[in-house]
Amino acid sequence: MNGNDIIKIAPWKRDVAAHGRNDCLKIAVIEGDGIGKEVVPEGVRVIEAVARLYGIDITWERLDWGCDYYARFGRMMPEDGLARIAGHDAIFLGAVGWPTVPDWVSLWTLLMPIRRNFQQYVNLRPVRLFDGVQSPLANPGTIDFYVVRENNEGEYSEIGGRMYAGTDQEMVVQNTIMTRFGCDRVMRFAFELARKRKKKLTSATKSNGIIHTMPFWDERFRAVSADYPDIATEQYHIDILTAHFVRRPSSFDVVVASNLFGDILSDLGPAVTGTIGIAPSGNLNPERRFPSMFEPVHGSAPDIAGQNIANPIGQIWSGAMMLEHLGAKEAADAIVVAIERVLASGENLTRDMGGTASTTALGQAIADAVSVHR
Ligand code: NAI
Ligand code: MG
Repeated sequence: MNGNDIIKIAPWKRDVAAHGRNDCLKIAVIEGDGIGKEVVPEGVRVIEAVARLYGIDITWERLDWGCDYYARFGRMMPEDGLARIAGHDAIFLGAVGWPTVPDWVSLWTLLMPIRRNFQQYVNLRPVRLFDGVQSPLANPGTIDFYVVRENNEGEYSEIGGRMYAGTDQEMVVQNTIMTRFGCDRVMRFAFELARKRKKKLTSATKSNGIIHTMPFWDERFRAVSADYPDIATEQYHIDILTAHFVRRPSSFDVVVASNLFGDILSDLGPAVTGTIGIAPSGNLNPERRFPSMFEPVHGSAPDIAGQNIANPIGQIWSGAMMLEHLGAKEAADAIVVAIERVLASGENLTRDMGGTASTTALGQAIADAVSVHR
């Protein structure tokens, strides 16, 4: 396998008109690897609990794709994998990656093809400090913002290569791809989100050091902002922005960033709210031509896998984002309220939040706390 054949554009196009929505939601479930296998069942447990309350009918299709599948078949998912899930309403994913498979293979032959072929160009990552969770900061204040990460292009590109491998002249090139279309659409999403919130949008840049793509990113940010005169904007170079995330996280509302910067900021944000274990994400195709994918921000955590100690909240909250995306806003809110209640009670906290509870105990506590929310 080389960099040129890892992403194959699928030969199908999803015909929205032909996809007659019936009342039953069809969700593809990929537990993946490591703690993905432990947190996904807790996500399903809580979604099932809320679905029963709100009369939502869900069919789960479980797919055993990931590094175990790779060990058996030499690939992360079947050749027709994308076609098999293109008609689903959403994809509920745990995490992929295991030490037996190079990380770039597991990422670029499962996650990336899904994100890109399904045009999930927004990676939406909420960051919130909950009552009952200890921030590592002495005076964190109220933390409640969104990172909107560009999810289809940018620094994560397969354009590049290696020459003179193994010799003294060895060299590598990795290209960043930024398009007007790609920048504008994710920025518009961020402006629209800011409009529904506190009307403030921060852009992450690095146009002093990266002198072609990042000035272009800034240029597009200015151009798109002209359509949103009601939104206050600011921009920071990524280095000082990471410092501001730690020094004054409560000052942010919506932050828009390129693929790499958004990836970094959306691990840092949740770390400042106590643990990356609670952070959710939605890989969104806002036009809904394709299914969107919901997964926690964290990875497969091989260091704690198989011990039933991982925090399932990132997965469970991702489930709430999925229901909201599918139009079940009240059910989604009910999950978030249940998470808030359990965290505030201080009981059933997993180790990363200073408790001793197991993954299953915390998942069950949240499922038990779900009630009708209006
Ligand atoms: P990671 O997020 O898996 O783990 C980082 C640290 O956070 C570890 O110490 C881990 O124990 C802890 N942690 C993560 N999730 C937790 C949870 N729910 N509860 C408690 N503690 C938690 O990141 P790492 O170590 O960089 O990557 C491990 C594997 O996961 C690699 O193969 C990587 O490629 C893959 N990965 C996959 C992602 C995905 O599927 N979207 C995202 C990030 C990494
Ligand atoms: Mg990441």
